[in-house]
Amino acid sequence: MGILKLILVPVAIGVLAAAVWNLLPEKEINVEENNYYGSGKAKPDNTEIKPFKVNVEQSVIDDLKHRLQNARISHSVLEDSDDFYYGFNSKQLLKLRDYWLNKYDWRKQEATINQFPQFKTEIEGLQVHFLHVKPPKSYKNVKPILVAHGWPGNVFEFYKFIPLLTDPKKHGIDSDFAFEVIAPSIPGYGWSDQPKKTGFSQLACARVFRKLMLRLGYNKFYLQGGDWGAIITSLLTKVYPQNVMALHLNMMPAMPGANALGTFYDILGWLIPSTLSSKEIQKTHNPFSKFGLLIVETGYMHLQATKPDTAGTSLNDSPIGLAAYIIEKFSTWTNTENRALPDGGLNKRFTNDELLTIVMIYWTNGNIVSSQRFYREMFLDRRCEALGKRYVSTPTAHASGLNELYDRTPIEVSRHSYNITHYTEIDMGHFAAFEAPKPLAQSVFKFVKDLN
Ligand SMILES: *[C@@H]1O[C@H](CO)[C@@H](O)[C@H](O)[C@H]1NC(C)=O
Repeated sequence: MGILKLILVPVAIGVLAAAVWNLLPEKEINVEENNYYGSGKAKPDNTEIKPFKVNVEQSVIDDLKHRLQNARISHSVLEDSDDFYYGFNSKQLLKLRDYWLNKYDWRKQEATINQFPQFKTEIEGLQVHFLHVKPPKSYKNVKPILVAHGWPGNVFEFYKFIPLLTDPKKHGIDSDFAFEVIAPSIPGYGWSDQPKKTGFSQLACARVFRKLMLRLGYNKFYLQGGDWGAIITSLLTKVYPQNVMALHLNMMPAMPGANALGTFYDILGWLIPSTLSSKEIQKTHNPFSKFGLLIVETGYMHLQATKPDTAGTSLNDSPIGLAAYIIEKFSTWTNTENRALPDGGLNKRFTNDELLTIVMIYWTNGNIVSSQRFYREMFLDRRCEALGKRYVSTPTAHASGLNELYDRTPIEVSRHSYNITHYTEIDMGHFAAFEAPKPLAQSVFKFVKDLN
């Protein structure tokens, strides 16, 4: 505990300093119109939109099998720690390897992904992959929405969420309108190209996603995001508010210290919980212990934000290492209490097939390193931080996951960063669309309906 206090005091001082800094007026932030992240010299984009289907070569699957058979898991669980506190429990990892080798069927998962129409198009020198799913003709009122994923995820997180958005009635959601869904893979993730040059930050990604929507013919659209997706969609809304109808977030990028009033209510809510409207958040709200938890759980972030190429090398070489690194997050970020369980509580909310498919998308594309570089670019592009304090007047929904490690931001705080017109609490963790697709979709429909 001593070390934690040693860290917490400077952090608390830092938060207050940040809050004061945020009182200063915003400096001018220049966002370029265009950059080029492809190989070699910049050239104009080929704006063609080409259909795409996932089809992994058999040799990649055979090689994976070989590596899994030879995987070296020679450490054993500490006798008095049969849980996830030290990271992925090796006993559980052996079971997962067995499932992966003997029961998991990639071709079946590939078919699940390919049920959605997919495309690629070139933007700023990168082939950007996206799902584009339209509602049945029976819906006369159709609204375009871009849904954005994060790390360590990909568009597969949306495979249960998308059908709810495109055909709510079929799934018991009462709505006379439906969404046309565009779900892009962040460049460096999934089937999008990996940036070949430095500087592909969340702000660059926001610009690329906007260009994608404009190219598809949508001048005004809705946005939904969690994790990086929440940051990308927030930046898009801040820089290009003219294109955004409304923003739905399942993670609030309004960290303590983001602005002075928010910080004030954050601390007030801790000292006098009754100043918070949410009974659930009253029970646990403590911005300082939240920081403590973040320090304990975000070592990966520091590593990825500083030396991503080193951190990713062994992950890209070992499927079992990659699975441990990625799937551990689906345990802790879904509920921190999962750390106490021998199996990490992984199958409470996800199947092994679902978890392994997330990993397979990183493995077969060989892009864990590029996904990790995105952290470095975030911290290097100081405009992302500077834009953190710009208020969003576009109507925004805050769908708060009650088990969300990074969030549980009281609305008393978030409304000083965003124009919150809809707030809801859902029994879910960080991977909202993957874990709780229906309550999340219901929140999106209610939010948009109330605006119209
Ligand atoms: C928030 O959004 C609503 C709905 O568009 C709008 O009427 C209101 O003026 C906005 N508020 C602020 C503070 O921007």
